[in-house]
Amino acid sequence: MSKTSTPVDERLFAYLATKTIPEDDYLAGLRIAAAKAGLPEIHIAPEQAAYLQLQLRAINAMNVVEVGTLGGYSAIAMARGIPAAGRVVSLELERSHAEFAREWVAKSDQAGKIEVRIGDAAKTMADLPDDSIDAVFLDANKSGYVTYMKHALRLLRPGGILLADNVLAGGQVADGDGETEVAIRAFLDAAMAAPNLQSVIVPLGDGLFFGVKSD
Ligand code: DHB
Ligand code: MG
Repeated sequence: MSKTSTPVDERLFAYLATKTIPEDDYLAGLRIAAAKAGLPEIHIAPEQAAYLQLQLRAINAMNVVEVGTLGGYSAIAMARGIPAAGRVVSLELERSHAEFAREWVAKSDQAGKIEVRIGDAAKTMADLPDDSIDAVFLDANKSGYVTYMKHALRLLRPGGILLADNVLAGGQVADGDGETEVAIRAFLDAAMAAPNLQSVIVPLGDGLFFGVKSD
């Protein structure tokens, strides 16, 4: 039977995971240490990490901006998708999260490619030059997504990509009325209304927004 859309249940998902780049030992160790250190367990899913890494490789990304470092899991995953001369600048408001991430970045094999900057991401983004970035990944406070998207659309080069986590909002995005759902819907509405952005939602993890800035 042919279908245009197949729901992925747990059994199918478990099989798909065996055909996706597995989580490496270093990131698994980081995840466990982050939980022990009391960081919230809201890192991206391993299949999202695989997707981000391959997507960056596919566009030959050199310069990446991440909004929301948390423990550095996604920054390290993304760094694996760019060449040795490339750079992930990861922005984090919470000092304790940034310090944990810096420690794990420093002892990783991606150390030279990643810089963790502490502060308000909107302010840091405002100081970066136009058309200078290949990819921006949003994974921070959802109330900031619209603002971060506006900055990203200026920073991205034509053909650059905007990625954002949690656009399924735990499955409640379409009609939930919590702060997160309202913020994600505002982001998705703004993305649809942006004349220079075309996008699709990839239902991996809690939902990965993927947009391309037009020329
Ligand atoms: C939350 C934030 C995230 O980025 C995420 O992936 C999951 C949950 C949160 O703030 O609850
Ligand atoms: Mg997230």
